[in-house]
Amino acid sequence: MHEDIEKVLISEEEIKLKCKELGQQLTEEYKEKFPLAVGVLKGALPFMSDILRNMDCHVEMDFMDVSSYGNETKSSGEVKIVKDLNTKVEGRDLVIIEDIIDSGLTLSYLVDLFKYRKANSIKIVTLLDKPEGRTANIKADLVGFNVPNEFVVGYGLDYAERYRNLPYIGVLKPKIYGGE
Ligand code: XMP
Ligand code: MG
Repeated sequence: MHEDIEKVLISEEEIKLKCKELGQQLTEEYKEKFPLAVGVLKGALPFMSDILRNMDCHVEMDFMDVSSYGNETKSSGEVKIVKDLNTKVEGRDLVIIEDIIDSGLTLSYLVDLFKYRKANSIKIVTLLDKPEGRTANIKADLVGFNVPNEFVVGYGLDYAERYRNLPYIGVLKPKIYGGE
């Protein structure tokens, strides 16, 4: 375990099993289609990579990078597109892949955008869900794990751009935030 991590919430093994399970479910749902998997950068990268390798059907992939206005801890709900898709959304079956849903404001913005662009269908897959943080009326179709209202890092999730490369999800030691 990394020395900055206080505890591991979800192990590498648990994540691996979950990706297999979710990949199989998506295969069943999309085997007759050609879905467009939309990864939300940067946090969804490891999850997207693992989930797509467990999908036994044709799937196209593309990426969005969005940042939300507001202060560091509270999303304002206004989202800025930093990198847009290269793919046309009209008529496509979208699978949005996220690392974590907290307030839900980011996803709510993306869903509205893709509806406006006339997607045929939109499904949300998230590795983590923090239901206590929710302010927007949005629900994921597939959730890997529910997590408590704590700041988590690893497997794509960062603190100041660090820890994304950890293979598990963990909670940081308070001293890393300048606490203790
Ligand atoms: P919403 O719009 O659902 O935002 O509030 C979701 C985005 O907020 C970030 N986020 C976290 N990032 N650890 C992180 O590293 C966390 O515990 C956490 N909670 C929310 C993340 O970027 C996510 O996409
Ligand atoms: Mg994110």
